[in-house]
Amino acid sequence: MAEENQVIVLKDAAALAQAAAEMVMRCAADAIARRGRFMIALSGGSTPEAAYEIIHRTFASQGNWAKWFIFLGDERAVPTDDPRSNLAMAMRTMLHGLPIPPEQIFAVRTQLPPADAAADYEKRIKDFFGYAEPRFDLILLGLGDDGHTASLFPGLSARHEQSKLVTFSPPGTLPPPVDRITFTFPLINLARKVVFLMAGAKKKSVVRQLLAADVNPELIPAANVHPVDGELIYMMDQAAHG
Ligand code: 6PG
Repeated sequence: MAEENQVIVLKDAAALAQAAAEMVMRCAADAIARRGRFMIALSGGSTPEAAYEIIHRTFASQGNWAKWFIFLGDERAVPTDDPRSNLAMAMRTMLHGLPIPPEQIFAVRTQLPPADAAADYEKRIKDFFGYAEPRFDLILLGLGDDGHTASLFPGLSARHEQSKLVTFSPPGTLPPPVDRITFTFPLINLARKVVFLMAGAKKKSVVRQLLAADVNPELIPAANVHPVDGELIYMMDQAAHG
């Protein structure tokens, strides 16, 4: 049974980043205590950067990093040293210098063509979880101004993928104009906890549409996120909430 969706509104972007960082660390401690490891899929984009920096700056000495397993909820089809790479952003803001075994950071093999990179990532996720369901402890997501999340864009077919765990997509209308590799909604909805991070007045309109009872998932793909047996939290600052 899916738990009630939660809407958490923080006074500003800095408070949102702090609350998000604390939530991630609590989630990690709980997962490690219960199951001996923490599987997280990071969001790309700019919103999570401040929270990632706080995790690095404030919690580096507190994390049980050897038990963390890091995936990307989506990735741009660019080299991992390209500034547009979501992994590059995560390394720059959070992961650099943390004692997470490198083999526990699962980069998308973007040197492969997008379709092959997606199939490869899906195989690695399935191999990682083995016979267990591919159930992440935490998936962080952003919300695009067009209603996309991860790289599941309005009007593009990846948002309708129901059998694969990972797929690929041409770029949406928002930058950067590069192909993507992305978790699908079936994989996202298997998670124990999914948290959207949204900040800034520019997001107000799309947040209002997403939270509306009559939201149309065809127009706002992020509305397809309904954890089957997990928690869904919308975390935002006051500017995004309006
Ligand atoms: C990406 C992200 C994407 C992002 C949204 C919001 O690869 O860009 O995964 O889904 O989360 O576009 O981006 P901002 O946080 O920059 O508004």
